[in-house]
This record gives sequence, C-alpha cells and structure tokens, in this order.
Amino acid sequence: MWKALFLLVLLVLSPGADGLFRSLYRKGHVSSPRKGDPGQRLFLTPYIETGKLEEGRQLSLVPPFPGWNLTSYSGYITVNKTYNSNIFFWFFPAKIEPQNAPVVLWLQGGPGGSSMFGLFVEHGPYIVSKNMTLFARDFPWTITFSMLYVDNPVGTGFSFTDHVHGYAIDEDDVARNLYSALIQFFELFSDYRDNDFYVTGESYAGKYVPAIAHYIHILNPVTTMKINLKGIALGDAYFDPKSIIEGYPSFLFQIGLLDEQEKKYFQKQCNDCVKFIRQEKWLQAFELLDRLLDGGLISEPSYFQNVTGCSNYYNLLLCTEPEDQGYYGKFLSLPHVRQAIHVGNQTFSDGAKVEKYLREDTVKSVKPWLTEIMNNYKVLIYNGQLDVIVAASLTERSLMAMDWKGSQKYKKAGKKVWKILKSDPEVAGYVRQVGNFCQVIVRGGGHILPYDQPLRSFDMINRFIFGRGWDPY
Ligand SMILES: *[C@@H]1O[C@H](CO)[C@@H](O)[C@H](O)[C@H]1NC(C)=O
Ligand SMILES: *[C@@H]1O[C@H](CO)[C@@H](O)[C@H](O)[C@H]1NC(C)=O
Ligand SMILES: *[C@@H]1O[C@H](CO)[C@@H](O)[C@H](O)[C@H]1NC(C)=O
Ligand SMILES: *[C@@H]1O[C@H](CO)[C@@H](O)[C@H](O)[C@H]1NC(C)=O
Ligand SMILES: *[C@@H]1O[C@H](CO)[C@@H](O)[C@H](O)[C@H]1NC(C)=O
Repeated sequence: MWKALFLLVLLVLSPGADGLFRSLYRKGHVSSPRKGDPGQRLFLTPYIETGKLEEGRQLSLVPPFPGWNLTSYSGYITVNKTYNSNIFFWFFPAKIEPQNAPVVLWLQGGPGGSSMFGLFVEHGPYIVSKNMTLFARDFPWTITFSMLYVDNPVGTGFSFTDHVHGYAIDEDDVARNLYSALIQFFELFSDYRDNDFYVTGESYAGKYVPAIAHYIHILNPVTTMKINLKGIALGDAYFDPKSIIEGYPSFLFQIGLLDEQEKKYFQKQCNDCVKFIRQEKWLQAFELLDRLLDGGLISEPSYFQNVTGCSNYYNLLLCTEPEDQGYYGKFLSLPHVRQAIHVGNQTFSDGAKVEKYLREDTVKSVKPWLTEIMNNYKVLIYNGQLDVIVAASLTERSLMAMDWKGSQKYKKAGKKVWKILKSDPEVAGYVRQVGNFCQVIVRGGGHILPYDQPLRSFDMINRFIFGRGWDPY
C-alpha cells in the first residue's frame, strides 16, 4: 500500500524538465477551453495606426475580476505583418500616483517562459490559489510602478506568429519585435510616455533586457518617438554564459552537490563547452550543456539530475519546484479569464518552439551591450543567495570579466550590509554600488526571488529605481 502511494506521489511530482531555465515556467499548463465563451483576441495595432487611440484603450480595459477593483489593460500588438507576429501585453498602472510612477517592463526568461509567471507567481497584484480564488499579493510591484508584463519573444505564452520565419533566432530579432511593441504601446498609452522607463527581467531575460536596452539606446537619437529609458534590472541573469559555465564545477562541488569524482567529469564537460563557445560552435556547446544540466534535447535525465537526484536548480534548499507555482496555468485556461484579458481561444505556447529557434543563441554573450548600458544608464544586477543555476558567485565571475567605465572601482568597492528597517534583526542582503551601478545579493531566496522573498525584492527594486540608497529606514 505505502509503496503504491509513494509511486503515485513520484508520478505527480516528476517534472517535465526542458529548456535551460524553462522547466519551472512550464509548470503552469494553460489549455484552450472546451466549454464557455473565451471571447475574441483583441488586436490593437489597427486602432493605433488609424489614430483611434481612445477606442483602443477602452477596448483593452480588462473588466475587474469578481471582488476586485483594479484597472488593467491587455491585448495584442502586431510587430511583424509579414509573418503575422503578435505580442501579448498586460499593463497595470501603478496604484500610487500612476501619472508619475515609472513604467517597468518585465520580461521572463526561459527562453520561452511566459511573463504570466512573473505576474502571478512573482510580483503582480494577484496570487492564484489551488481552487482558482484570486488573492492580493502583499508587496506587488504594481503599488509603486506601472508594470508592463509582455510575453516575449513571439511564440511565447499568448504571443504568437503564423510563420516559422517569425520566430526569433537571435537577440536582434528579439529586440526588433519588442521595440515595435513598445513604440506602439507608448502611442496607445501616451500618458505614460514621458514617465521614467525601466526594463527588468530574470534568468534568460538577462539577454533580452540588454538587447532591447541597446536597441532603444541606438534608436532614440535618430527617431522622433523616444523611449524614456532610465535603467535596467537583471535578476539571476544569464548574460555571459561562458563565465557562468566555467564557474559551475567548483561552485557545485563547494555546495555539496558534486563529489570529487563528479566534479572532475563536470570540469571536463564545461571545458569542452567553453572550447566550443570560443570556436563559435554554438550548437555543439548548447547540446553539451543540455546533456549536462537540463536534458531537454535528450530523452533521459541530465547528468545534473542523475547525480543530484533533483530536478530543481532554482533554490539550493528545494529538490523539486513548489506546486503552487503552477496554479496560474489553470486560471488562464478559464473562459471568463480569457475573455477578460482579450486572448480568446489563442493556444498558449509552452516555449518549446521558441527555444528550438534560439538554441544557438543560448550560449552567446550579450556582454558588449550590457557594457554599453552600464556606461550610460542605471543598472541593477541582483541574485538570490540560494540560486544554483545562476548563483551569486557565478554572476560575480561574469561581472569581474566585464570592462566598463566603473570596473576598476567596482573591483575595489566594499560591500554594504543592507537592512530594510533599523530595528530588523535580520539582514536583507548585501550591496555594492559604484556610480549608477548596484549589485545586490538577497538573502534567503533563490532564482525565483520575489516568490521566495517578496518584501526584500520589493524594497530592493524600489530603492534602486527611486534612488533611495541602501540605509535602513
Ligand atoms: C474603484 O477604485 C476607484 C479608484 O481607485 C474608485 O474611484 C472607485 O470608487 C472604486 N470603485 C469601487 C466599486 O470600489
Ligand atoms: C519581419 O521579420 C523578418 C524576419 O525576422 C525580418 O527580416 C523583417 O525585417 C521583419 N519585418 C519588420 C517590419 O520588422
Ligand atoms: C479557496 O481556498 C481558499 C484558501 O486557499 C479559501 O479561503 C477559500 O474559501 C476557498 N474558496 C472556495 C470557493 O472554496
Ligand atoms: C542518467 O542516468 C541514466 C540512467 O542510468 C542514463 O541512461 C543516462 O545516460 C544518464 N544521463 C547522462 C547525461 O549521463
Ligand atoms: C478558435 O476559435 C475560432 C473561431 O471560433 C476557430 O476557428 C479556431 O479553430 C479556434 N482555435 C482553437 C485553438 O480552438
């Protein structure tokens, strides 16, 4: 009896790991409803192009969910007509002073992870419970910022394209489509155009964020329509794969996940992977990394899964992913929800296709773009202290390998203990600041930091964006 029960539990918990950082984002399985009226998809580009802005805004208004009084807008923006590529967005004007609040774009990682994960699991106003009741999050980022959640790149989540050539194969494709979406968004919501604008994201978005920021930086001087970019924030960011991969063997050994012998094997694999990267053999590097860590391409567990017995590398203390991180998927399958957010019966993509087209991109660095952004804008790079896959020490390796205007000072800068309140016995984390650059390590959280540490994440992003410094209140 107990054995059958044990096996059942095993079955329920066995993960569908796939994609470098995607297994967790795939937990929220969204299906198309078989019954009920999901309504129609709302395409806003025709309203923007014909100047029917007020009408477009009104149509995109999301009717409040029962028991809620919260204004938000959602719909599709067409970013490439040739391939019918459309980006889905969901916009929440800030609760406090929306007319002045900074606009913050959030991009999920993956590749192919939907930003609906960030909205429902990390820092949006709603938390979905098991029985599909919506609860209010204690510290949603939507209190002080106008949050723009976007399913990026096309083919992710509710965003879609009708043609194989519509999928992004590199970060230029990602940035081009996203830029088109942003320009149109600020035409439609012109009241927010002059507010400060920040681009944020985690994990694989460590590549998307510098890519779109670079695109804006290059185009702003030569276009009439400017985007008021002030800075970027990257969480547990995968912006320089090579330096991260080089750091895995000793890090995983030091935290007790590899023994001496396994470390040697890991070291050999990582050396080969880095060699492929140097030779620009991107696909070979990706395949090797996949076998080692993720097992998405092969139909067997990865080496990491074999030797650790764990599928979850997002939090040192957790072997599997928390079940409640997937509840939002069922919520987004409900016909009345789909109708409210204007996605109709659009198939929700789990990101597998997006990842397939971005395979070569997976191991490429965006260091030059990040350098440019660090030289010209505010930048926050943060880690959850308990993350494994992009651990704090691995980010430090990436940063040490960067050459930007503050790099000499950064290497000598002392770190500061950060507490939220003077009376706090607990330390929230550690900060190193050089000019407009902040590096933060948040205690007690992993890769999905705002889920693990809501208050610390909220305090961190507010201190960074509003420039409040890091002294306790
Ligand atoms: C909803 O919120 C708005 C603005 O915050 C307020 O003016 C309005 O009275 C509220 N409506 C209800 C039904 O609570
Ligand atoms: C549409 O996508 C293709 C392929 O990525 C690209 O070559 C073309 O320039 C895009 N068109 C627009 C208007 O962005
Ligand atoms: C749903 O679950 C929550 C607790 O998670 C509970 O407070 C609420 O009453 C439940 N609602 C229904 C309709 O069962
Ligand atoms: C993981 O273990 C299984 C079962 O022993 C084996 O078939 C597979 O090749 C291993 N995976 C890797 C990447 O070594
Ligand atoms: C969505 O609805 C349209 C029109 O009712 C139908 O043609 C289409 O097949 C549906 N798509 C899916 C994925 O159910």
